[in-house]
Formats: sequence, structure tokens, C-alpha cells
Amino acid sequence: MGRTEMAPVRFAVIGTSRITERMLGESVFCPGFELAGVYSRSREKGAAFAGRYSRNGTCRVYGSLQELADDPGIDAVYVASPNACHAGQAVRMLESGKNVLCEKTLASNSREAETMFRAADAHGVLLTEGMRSIHTPGFRAVEENLVKLGTIRKARFSYCKYSSRYDAFRQGIPQNIFRTSCSAGALTDLGIYCIEPMVALWGKPARILSSSVMLPGMDGEDGADGAGTILAEYPGMTVELDYSKISDGYLPSEIEGEEGTMLIPAIDDVREITIRRRSTGTAAPAGADKEQETLRFQEGEADNLRYEIADFISAVRASAARKGQKAGVDRYRPVTLEAIRIADEVRRQCGIVFPADRDREQDSTGHTQTPAGQTAPEAEQGACTNEKH
Ligand SMILES: NC(=O)c1ccc[n+]([C@@H]2O[C@H](COP(=O)([O-])OP(=O)(O)OC[C@H]3O[C@@H](n4cnc5c(N)ncnc54)[C@H](OP(=O)(O)O)[C@@H]3O)[C@@H](O)[C@H]2O)c1
Repeated sequence: MGRTEMAPVRFAVIGTSRITERMLGESVFCPGFELAGVYSRSREKGAAFAGRYSRNGTCRVYGSLQELADDPGIDAVYVASPNACHAGQAVRMLESGKNVLCEKTLASNSREAETMFRAADAHGVLLTEGMRSIHTPGFRAVEENLVKLGTIRKARFSYCKYSSRYDAFRQGIPQNIFRTSCSAGALTDLGIYCIEPMVALWGKPARILSSSVMLPGMDGEDGADGAGTILAEYPGMTVELDYSKISDGYLPSEIEGEEGTMLIPAIDDVREITIRRRSTGTAAPAGADKEQETLRFQEGEADNLRYEIADFISAVRASAARKGQKAGVDRYRPVTLEAIRIADEVRRQCGIVFPADRDREQDSTGHTQTPAGQTAPEAEQGACTNEKH
């Protein structure tokens, strides 16, 4: 049996922030995961990170993306850098034959996302977005229980959470997560957690209308969005999406049908759903509980990242077993692409421009093109040009 079918999938990580720590913490629940490499812009930081998370002490440290790309001992790369870096970094890894699990939002815009998927196909490897919420048993239950609601008429998904980095931003200290040069802001950070379940459940909307609350720009950059609302129209139903990084929201998400309503306390992390059916009889039901059903999932689990990692590992193994033919994870591709197209349209309506949208000197992966059309090797960070922080 070939090594990639049953042997651990050897991962390298790009980015050493809290999300990579969370992912590595969850990876212990994913059979077949092995941390084999860490890339950081600072080799020292990478070495310290590898020292903390390597389970067998054999994890390699790379100070350049090219070293990582050239390492045949890596099967898959987890990209967890700012959004603006994703395309450039992921394409470089895909082109070197590595499977890529790339954090949300997959790319700055749909043009970049399409280029990334083309690179994956051209090199017979997998690319999937780390949209953790739609890989969970809780989200599967949302899908399976929709039928109990009858004809769906309305839905409201909400993810409003005051960012721990907003205090510093308010004091005038720039934060990557509020920088358009990082393709960041509320839409790509939290709004996408509302958009993707909507697309996964109902596909492409007929029309959207959107409005954003804009923040001031810093360092000469355009400002990012701090909050926003999207109204999406589907035949016979509407969906309202609300997201914010500058205020807290306490309302649950909801899906309303003609026969019942589903309440979802957290759309980014579905651990519980309650279905309230409409009472159809004239007499009051003997027990109100008969009209209400609560389902719980993942009780006691700290995080839900394990499901996307496990799905990705199975798909990499299935793909290896079929000698490069993709399987499994690819069912998420249409959702990822449609969600990014919706985000593009929201940004068009609200005037949110990322440097990655307008950069005519670069190709859609963020790689600078040489006159011969070859990718310049110095494009170490993809489209990201920010200082380290
Ligand atoms: N799934 C989730 O729940 C979740 C949660 C949070 C974030 N995310 C996603 O994870 C990604 C990273 O978000 P984050 O908030 O952790 O970002 P971040 O702190 O700004 O950066 C993440 C890492 O990327 C590297 N980096 C930072 N600035 C860079 C730059 N200008 N150019 C190149 N590399 C840079 C740094 O690693 P080195 O210094 O080692 O190079 C840093 O540790 C984003 O796509 C975000 O949407 C997902």
C-alpha cells in the first residue's frame, strides 16, 4: 500500500498566530495528522513554534516559502496568514504538488479564488477552504432537519462579536484584521460565516442588497468595514445576514418555515438547534414540549476545527488512493466560490476596495510577473506587504 494511503499526512503550517495554535491543538483528535514543518517570516519564531507543537521532534523549520515548496517531505500545507497572502502562498504550494487547506476567507476576491482552484486542478492536488462551521455534525443536522420546517420563507444568520483587537484599533494602533491591505474587515472575517451556510443550504441568491459600517483607514490605506448587513433574495424567501466586529450581538440565528422555525444559537459553531413546530390543532397541545425539539452536538468539545481537518485528511488520502483524482472535499468548492462572489458583490455595493482587486501589476495570485511572465521569486508573502507585527 502506498505511503500516502495509510501513513500520516505530513503537514506544514504557514502563520504562527492563535488560529494555527488552535488548529494544532485540535489536530490531536485527527488520526493521520502529523506536523512536519513550520514556515514563519522569522526563522526563530518558527523554531520556537515547532518546538512547542512537534510531537516527535522532527518538525522542520523554513525561513522562506521556497524552502517549504521544495521539501518533498510535506504532503499538505495549512495556510493561516492574512487573507491577502492566501492566493500567492497557496498557489506556490499547489504548484509544488502540495495539498492546501487554506483558512477562510480563501482569497481576496473570486478572481484569485478561481486561479487557486485552477492551480490545484493543474497539479492534481486538493485545495479546500478552512470554513470550519460547515464541516460539523451540527451543520449537517441543520441541513437534515430543514425538511421539518415546511416551505422556508425567511432566515436570519447573525455573527456579531466585538473584536479583541478593536480596542487597540480605536487607540490608533493598526491591526491586520481591520486593514484592507490584508483583505480583512468584518465581511471577510465574520460575514463569511453567515454567507457560506446560506450558500451551502440554498445556493446562489437571485439578488443581494448590502450595507456596511466603514471604519477609518490608517497608514494611508482605505478603511475596512467594521459591520454590515446583507439581504439576499431567493424565490419565495429572503435571508438576512448580520455581522459585526465592533459590537456584540446576542440574538440567535433562525430559519423560519411555514410549518416550523429552527433556532441556531451560533451559526459559526452549531452545537445546538431547537425546532419549534407550529401547533396545527385548535386545542392546545397536551405538552408544549411535543412541539419543541432540541438537538445537541459536540458537547464538551473545545473547538470545532477538528471536523474540517479530518475531512481534509480523508480527502487527501482518497485523492492519493485514486492517484490524484480529487474526492470528498471538492464538494465544498462551489460553496467557497459562490460565497466569495457574494463578498465581491457586497464590496462593490459598499465601496470596499482591497489593494488585491486593483493591482494590475500582479497576476491574480499576488505574484509579480516578470516580463517573461514568470513568477518573481521574491513574492515571499503573496500580496501581503505589511510590516510584521
Ligand atoms: N477558522 C477560524 O476560526 C479563524 C479564526 C481566526 C482567524 N482565521 C483566519 O486565519 C487567517 C489568519 O488570521 P489571523 O488573525 O491569525 O492573522 P494575523 O495574526 O494577522 O497573521 C497570521 C500569521 O500570518 C503571518 N503574518 C502576519 N502578518 C503578515 C503579513 N503582513 N504578511 C505575511 N504574513 C503575515 C504571521 O506569522 P509569522 O510571523 O510567523 O510569519 C502571523 O502569525 C485569516 O485568514 C483569518 O481569516 C480563522
